[in-house]
Amino acid sequence: MKFLRILFILLIAAFVVFQFIGIEKTNPEFEPSMDFIVMENPPEEIAQMIRSACYDCHSNETIWPWYSNIAPVSWKLEEHVIDGRDNLNLNMWGEFDVEDRAYVIEEMIEEMEEGEMPIPGYLITHSDAKLTAEQQAKLFKWFRSIQKMN
Ligand code: HEC
Repeated sequence: MKFLRILFILLIAAFVVFQFIGIEKTNPEFEPSMDFIVMENPPEEIAQMIRSACYDCHSNETIWPWYSNIAPVSWKLEEHVIDGRDNLNLNMWGEFDVEDRAYVIEEMIEEMEEGEMPIPGYLITHSDAKLTAEQQAKLFKWFRSIQKMN
């Protein structure tokens, strides 16, 4: 039992030390007129879905939750946001080549259809990001409509 007690104390100590390795919760400035939602101007209902399901990782408008202060969860979270923004930053839609836009929209639909996006773990703490089949159908329909114009 002594061994278990020591192990427990070591784990607690490691957890405490982890807390000193903080993350940088950045939300860099961006040009609002370049933003996907501003430019494509969806109905409010659609805008709301995209904001709550995608914007925490795919924009500079991340809402950092309270547990983003707690290591090691915070490290994973920071990685998702950095990777997500690197792959697709919807605040920078206006900077995408016009020829690329229809393709990116296709990717967004595909990732959602395959259940890859939003990242499933994200849904545990963000129930509003979980879209019903009906909401998804509406969203895809709107995506298709702007795909034709882009
Ligand atoms: C919790 C963070 C998170 C959320 C929320 C999220 N994504 Fe992602 N997304 C990522 C990360 C990380 C990557 C890059 C790694 C990968 O492809 O898995 C990514 C990649 C992508 C890519 C590029 C895939 C590729 O092959 O390059 C698309 C498209 C995408 N996401 C669409 C979406 C859409 C649409 C939503 C909202 C419905 C969404 N994501 C929500 C984190 C997220």
